[in-house]
Amino acid sequence: MPGAKTVRVPRHVAIVMDGNGRWAKARHRPRSFGHNAGRKAVREVVEACLREGVRVLTLFAFSSENWHRPEDEVGALMSLFLRALDKEVDELHGHGVRLRFIGDLAAFDEPLRQRMRAAMTHTAGNDALHMNVAVSYGGRWDIVQATRQAAAAVARGELRAEEIDEARLGQWMSLAELPSLDLFIRTGGERRISNFLLWQVAYAELYFTDTLWPDFDQACLREAIEDYARRERRYGRTSAQVITVP
Ligand code: IPE
Ligand code: IPE
Ligand code: MG
Repeated sequence: MPGAKTVRVPRHVAIVMDGNGRWAKARHRPRSFGHNAGRKAVREVVEACLREGVRVLTLFAFSSENWHRPEDEVGALMSLFLRALDKEVDELHGHGVRLRFIGDLAAFDEPLRQRMRAAMTHTAGNDALHMNVAVSYGGRWDIVQATRQAAAAVARGELRAEEIDEARLGQWMSLAELPSLDLFIRTGGERRISNFLLWQVAYAELYFTDTLWPDFDQACLREAIEDYARRERRYGRTSAQVITVP
């Protein structure tokens, strides 16, 4: 791109898409109006990731705890997911996006699960951008499901308990097959993780913005990436030891 600054681009970006309710409230509209408006921001970040060369995008769409919201809001979110799956998957596929859903998918009803499976299968051969949507996802749930798999392997006699180490357990965590998380973004002004990728966030760079999710656009992602590029990732070492990996 002529004139564009070249920056160190994170390979894997995760976003807590927060602030839809407040965005709607400011417009005297129901919360579901804000969730709907958030779809445009998703399209914006997908386009920006494709353009900037981000390889993996993981979006927090619905947490384990969000099931406790009022029934009508949960219902509105479920029908939004259904509509989005029907409408957006072909376009994402056209852009070469591989779609995955992570989380306790068994918590959803069959029509929704069936569409999620179909979208994953349909886009499985794509490689331009790996897009993961976390639904009914919790970081603690993830650690528990990985631990269960480890316990099952021990019970089958395939593994000894002493052989379970960080690398081994990490293989069962969601997203283990993808590059590790570089940049964790949260919109909407709160400075917390809210049970998102607890294991995976260990050495990610954190970026918080007051921008409400429906207002987040390509320029906002660019700003986050530029901020990331200025960070020094030391992984416990000293500044003098750090070797810059291009
Ligand atoms: C995030 O926006 C979307 C979901 C949690 C599904 P919120 O609905 O949490 O919006 P605020 O935080 O109330 O503004
Ligand atoms: C986190 O947002 C979950 C998603 C964005 C999907 P919340 O709005 O649910 O988080 P809390 O309740 O403010 O921590
Ligand atoms: Mg919120």
